[in-house]
Amino acid sequence: DMMREVLGLKELERKIKKKLPVEDVIVVVGDSDQSPWVKREMGRACVSRIKHSLKGNDIVAVTGGTTLAAVAEMMTPDVKYRDVLFVPARGGLGEDVTNQANTICARMAEKAMGHYRLLHVPDQLSAETYQSIIEEPAIKEVLELIKSSTIVIHGIGDAKTMAERRKTPPEEMTKIEQSKAVAEAFGYYFNQHGEVVHKVNTVGIQLEDVRHVPCVIAVAGGASKAKAIQAYMKQANRCILITDEGAAKQLVRDN
Ligand code: F6P
Repeated sequence: DMMREVLGLKELERKIKKKLPVEDVIVVVGDSDQSPWVKREMGRACVSRIKHSLKGNDIVAVTGGTTLAAVAEMMTPDVKYRDVLFVPARGGLGEDVTNQANTICARMAEKAMGHYRLLHVPDQLSAETYQSIIEEPAIKEVLELIKSSTIVIHGIGDAKTMAERRKTPPEEMTKIEQSKAVAEAFGYYFNQHGEVVHKVNTVGIQLEDVRHVPCVIAVAGGASKAKAIQAYMKQANRCILITDEGAAKQLVRDN
């Protein structure tokens, strides 16, 4: 902790707490936009924070993305995970297999030596197929587990970056741009005031559900995500932010 004080990380954390309505914040050294290993450092910080919050028979829901993939890589086994169940937070959001919530969920659970359940619902479905799929008992059961999550760990992205990465269809893309979306999380797009301006339809946890989860941890870093983090946090409720120096410095600079 002495080292973190000397490095100025503690000071950044104090400044962020003053500026954003976060429950807690952890800043790791570096900028993940510049150095990929910084995501692993955020991952390490996240893993120790999760262990701290575990009660025993928790349900841990995770989203996709490269940052969450790094969290999974840094996961270590612990007896505390014996009765923990990992689930993906939401269905497919157009990510490549390695960065999908299902993949990350399975990887994290294996590394933790916990259990997991996956959500097998395709991305693009007609309304009728969708309705009948979510009524399938096996799917319904997983959806109920997801809705009763006690810990949610999620990424935050820059709206434009995410819309492009997901190969969003042109009309939706226009809507996202015209509504001045700056942040994305859980498939929801937010403007700079933290208002939802667009949403990807998929099963799983919805934003209203997230507000009732006892422990929510957002992991996002890199100077390029500062605006997104700031916007997202405006609507978040008791969220623990794990970020890096790159994003933190930009955040305390912006107004
Ligand atoms: O697509 C899943 C997701 O968690 C998004 O909600 C988020 O914006 C993004 O991944 C973050 O991805 P990355 O960590 O690669 O920046």
